[in-house]
Amino acid sequence: MAIGYQRENRIFTLDTAHTSYQMKVDDFGFLLHLYYGGRVYGNMDYLLTCYDRGFSGNPSDVGNDRTYSMDVLPQEYPVMGVGDFRNSALIIRNADGSDCCDLRYIGHEIKKGKYGLPGLPAVYADAGEAETLEICLEDKVSGVRATLLYGVLEDADIITRSVILENRGENSVTVEKAASACLDFVTGRFDMLSFYGRHTMERNLQREELRHGTYAIGSRRGTSSHQYNPAVILADRNTTEDAGGCYGMVFVYSGNFLCEAERDQYDQTRVLMGLQSDLFHYPLAKAEKLAVPETILCYSDRGLGMLSDRFHNCIREHLCRGKFRDEPRPVLLNSWEAAYFTFDGQTLLKLAKSTAALGIDMIVMDDGWFGKREDDNSGLGDWQVNEKKLGCTLRELIENVNSEGVKFGIWIEPEMVSEDSELYRTHPDWVLQIPGREPVRGRNQLVLDFSRADVRDYIFEQICEILEQGKIEYVKWDMNRSIADVFSGETAQGKVTYQYVLGVYDFLERLLQKYPDILLEGCSGGGGRFDAGMLYYTPQIWCSDNTDALDRLRIQYGTSFFYPASAVGSHVSAVPNHQTGRSVSLHTRGVVAMAGAFGFELDPEKLTAEEKAAVREQITQYKKWEELIRRGRYYRLSDPFAAAYTAWMFVSKDRDRALLSVVMLEMHGNMTVSYVKLKGLDAVSVYRDAESGRRYYGADLMEAGLPMPVEQKEYPAYQIELIKEM
Ligand code: GLA
Repeated sequence: MAIGYQRENRIFTLDTAHTSYQMKVDDFGFLLHLYYGGRVYGNMDYLLTCYDRGFSGNPSDVGNDRTYSMDVLPQEYPVMGVGDFRNSALIIRNADGSDCCDLRYIGHEIKKGKYGLPGLPAVYADAGEAETLEICLEDKVSGVRATLLYGVLEDADIITRSVILENRGENSVTVEKAASACLDFVTGRFDMLSFYGRHTMERNLQREELRHGTYAIGSRRGTSSHQYNPAVILADRNTTEDAGGCYGMVFVYSGNFLCEAERDQYDQTRVLMGLQSDLFHYPLAKAEKLAVPETILCYSDRGLGMLSDRFHNCIREHLCRGKFRDEPRPVLLNSWEAAYFTFDGQTLLKLAKSTAALGIDMIVMDDGWFGKREDDNSGLGDWQVNEKKLGCTLRELIENVNSEGVKFGIWIEPEMVSEDSELYRTHPDWVLQIPGREPVRGRNQLVLDFSRADVRDYIFEQICEILEQGKIEYVKWDMNRSIADVFSGETAQGKVTYQYVLGVYDFLERLLQKYPDILLEGCSGGGGRFDAGMLYYTPQIWCSDNTDALDRLRIQYGTSFFYPASAVGSHVSAVPNHQTGRSVSLHTRGVVAMAGAFGFELDPEKLTAEEKAAVREQITQYKKWEELIRRGRYYRLSDPFAAAYTAWMFVSKDRDRALLSVVMLEMHGNMTVSYVKLKGLDAVSVYRDAESGRRYYGADLMEAGLPMPVEQKEYPAYQIELIKEM
């Protein structure tokens, strides 16, 4: 039993293989948090201490006892208005204008299997793999009910949290803020690890000591954003890759979010993960409900590496869905950096011919194939094939590509409209725009109101018509601006940011149901919506618009803290690189791109014969290692922000095979030797270097490391395959 309840003292215990989580309903019905961390066995309510604390008020229930204060006690779901002056998980504005909601326990249920959420992505598991705890809390005065949902995946060491809010009262209320998870710690000094960035430079790791006050990250952009990823780690101050305690929180949502970490007056820590409160005032009429998106929680007592491994497994096996969850992904060549907007059917056919000769599985026709779309100033929304530009129908093009033995994929950006488009001219009221104000433009395009079913239905039909025009086996779903004008012609204001995201999910779900054999790749100017929510629909996401191998090392390093390599779209592009102007060898570009779903973003005709042979070889190697990369355990071996090299490893579950990848970052005169220490091997087994034939004990490689060659080159890279012999 992963979930236990002790009736006599009203303690709930959630146990996974290596972690425990405990909470308690106190004498007054408040739900107090007791513990989350490594596995424990007793009742942790002995951790609660009560002292008279000045200026920390006391609930009236306790009479004259001044030692009981919600401002000090650890809680499961802290609410504004009951004497806890720290950050709240929930703020309810009542019909009378007051901000208060006094949630007390009214009951609970323990169920087999993992709960799901209406209209929202959520971790899933077989009935035997998970249990669900539902705890019902209610505010008597307003009738607001919060059902706290806990999903426990025992073997996976994962606990998920979500909340369903329901107005069971007579009057409408407004949800002003709603988190799905709160972690309160009565003790501990923590660092916060967060992942900041910008377009083409996403998910840089920042590690900061949590001090008094609130450290907050979030998004108000309508998407989860390039700027802050909706996932954080709270680590003991001395935690490293391989040792120490750390907690991860991953928000399964693709829109505005808020994560707040606060160290309070008594050196206690609270971390909240949930919906962004700005641009959110969700009216909840009588009997109406609101599902707060899920947060995935995980604790590791063996450092960040173990934490990442657990998240990778959870996302890969309990969040990603569909046929491609378990299948090799096609090696694809995307037309974007090869041709941008300048192509016709012949260009694509040529690409197909040259990719076929190289062994690439698929070409993807990126932006520019529809409506009037010669650049990024027009045409979005007009999802009709520009046959004049292509010089043929889409069906003909696909058939010609297929006849080269190459699959065909296509790019779409369904959420957008250009002002210069037939769609906008016909339905100017379909965009998000504040009445009486000029819109904020982003990439010279406006955002369609995807909170509206009629708008979605129309676009869905248009997209389906395209997908019916031939054997399309892959769709890249893009989203290329932040949402600024939050106002809908139909949806209640205050609900728009949330309903927009649910609209995107609804569209994606319909697409998945209708075309289960199409591989969907998410994208938002690269990694602007790289989050666990999208991964429920698209098993891979274009990691960044930056294809520079050196920058990618950092971007992919940051991405690896939560997201598995199977989720990372990564391609070899031309040099000098289009984003940085840097030239890195083809070999190094290949090694870096092989840390994910591999592909190309260049015109093969511009390669020399020697380079073409090298590409062929890369594809052969990648196919050999594809399963290891997609399903193997991933280890970070160095920090690209600090070390002279970046190294990582994939190790098969049975430790029989491993692939070590190393990129040297520094070159100086009379260069020192870098020894890379491996991880995850079986210590007492012998491994053979598949290329050199040299044999090593696993322990030797892990304890003493492997010396990297000193070569007079810039950024040389090495891939070493190790095969267990005995
Ligand atoms: C975004 C994507 C690119 C490409 C362009 C097309 O920037 O991230 O990969 O598809 O749009 O306009």
